[in-house]
Amino acid sequence: MHIMESVPAMKQYVKDNRRLGKKIGFVPTMGALHEGHLTLMRQGKKDCDVVIASIFVNPVQFGPNEDFDRYPRDLQGDSEKAARAGVDAIFHPSAREMYPEGYATYVNVEGMTEKLCGSSRPGHFRGVTTVVLKLLNIVQPDKAYFGQKDAQQALVLKRMAQDLNLNAAIEIVPIVRENDGLALSSRNMYLSPQERQAALILYRSLCRAEKLVAGGEYDSKAIREAVLAVLEQEPLAELDYAEIYHYPSLQDMERLEDKALLALAVRIGKTRLIDNIILEVS
Ligand code: PAJ
Repeated sequence: MHIMESVPAMKQYVKDNRRLGKKIGFVPTMGALHEGHLTLMRQGKKDCDVVIASIFVNPVQFGPNEDFDRYPRDLQGDSEKAARAGVDAIFHPSAREMYPEGYATYVNVEGMTEKLCGSSRPGHFRGVTTVVLKLLNIVQPDKAYFGQKDAQQALVLKRMAQDLNLNAAIEIVPIVRENDGLALSSRNMYLSPQERQAALILYRSLCRAEKLVAGGEYDSKAIREAVLAVLEQEPLAELDYAEIYHYPSLQDMERLEDKALLALAVRIGKTRLIDNIILEVS
């Protein structure tokens, strides 16, 4: 396993592999790797000859009162897990390496970044698109892998890749869940045992919506209200948002047509969790 900390070393590794005609897959992460991340890496290994993962807790996508400082960091554990998932090299730059003194360039996808996580975390997506564009420029992969867990992030990055004519194909991998339905997240580590139990309410409310749609309920407002009613049953849960938009356009929709994204952000104690489901009209 190669671990590169500088941009020139990473670029050289990519150049050497390109010269050998290797197809390169890339999985950007912030570390604290779990089965969700590892699924992306395994998919990369299936599709490509060489898989590169980045581990970088990107300061630019965190708000001033968010968890940047306490975000879990474990390079040793992460590199062992990544190696077992087939990763060939890890890019692990410092914040200084990515944002040296005088750094002044940011990229922003307009419109679709203003709703959902964009409205509750101002500046978040500007930080995500900036770092991902930089990473894609450094690694120049054939394919880059992102999880449906962060559905809006995946759509924003697809938009950026299309709008800026990037070479990488953006691949979206389905949400990986625990057996009881909780979506895997590095932030699940913050949950106490009682909060971990309470966190199940997110998936339960998504399942309620799915069941309603299967039974012929296509009215967005009615579905949203049913979701809110489930979330209200959990005293430890505090709603940030629960919204339904057309998928993948993220346009408003009163009545479900073909596909809709039901996306949730819920605080369990101090931990903000997100989850989502695609509702399909049959
Ligand atoms: P991070 O939260 O570490 O997630 C890295 C990738 O793993 C993202 O594409 C995310 O959607 C995916 N992922 C996380 N949990 C998942 C799950 N349960 N199932 C499937 N995929 C899952 O997202 C980020 O980092 C950052 O914003 C990043 C894109 C690296 C930019 O800094």
